[in-house]
Amino acid sequence: MPAPRTAPRRARIAVLASGGGSNLQALLDHFAGPAAHVGDIVWVGSDRADAGALSRAEKAGAATGVVEHPADGNGLLAQLDRAGADTLVLAGYLKLIPAAVVHAFHGKLLNVHPALLPAFGGSGMYGPRIHAAVLEHGVTITGVTVHFVNEHFDRGPIIAQWPVPVLPGDSVANLAARVLRVEHRLFPLCVAAVASDAIVLGEDGRVHGHLDVPIGVAVPAWRFGLVPDTEAHDDSFPGDVARLFPR
Ligand code: GRF
Repeated sequence: MPAPRTAPRRARIAVLASGGGSNLQALLDHFAGPAAHVGDIVWVGSDRADAGALSRAEKAGAATGVVEHPADGNGLLAQLDRAGADTLVLAGYLKLIPAAVVHAFHGKLLNVHPALLPAFGGSGMYGPRIHAAVLEHGVTITGVTVHFVNEHFDRGPIIAQWPVPVLPGDSVANLAARVLRVEHRLFPLCVAAVASDAIVLGEDGRVHGHLDVPIGVAVPAWRFGLVPDTEAHDDSFPGDVARLFPR
């Protein structure tokens, strides 16, 4: 007799954000569109009651909350439990995640960082400071890193990276904008992959798995390259410099 079919588990995703929430918006759009079958964004929290991210969440119909005491792990865990969250995503959240939450969401807690870690990360490295440091050092390639979160700022195992060129004459603002466009593209793919268990954190502390590539996209062609300085993009970027998946 065939085994009874069980519906695949739908991920319940919570997002923490401190700022304007453009990465949150990319996630809301992805889970309302291409990744709708993977799960739902069930709660958005912020340490700042006036964060633009909370307004975006409310507009999208997601439940929201203010994290009154970000260092209180049990308090934050209670909020996440009430939301029934099983996956926790940091989208521009500036507070350190307490150890109790790191342990409770082991393998299901991820962050996006607007540089190629382990460079230009750590305490105090956030927002424009990152891009200012990149320009000050004269590096020619920066980028985006998505990683699992541990008790230290920007130090968990790396899930994916995507290079972004630093161009002559760049200002902090236009470099940040170029990097942010890549964040919006890469982060939702990684969140969906972790939420669906296509990417997992192994007992060896390393990242295993593959991207859950949408039907119709040939895996060998799924490569990421340098991004042109325009809003328009498609799946066949020129400059095939970084193959991220399968690992
Ligand atoms: C992003 O660059 C993110 O990587 C960083 O903070 C910024 C947040 O931007 N951690 P937004 O709030 O998602 O627009």
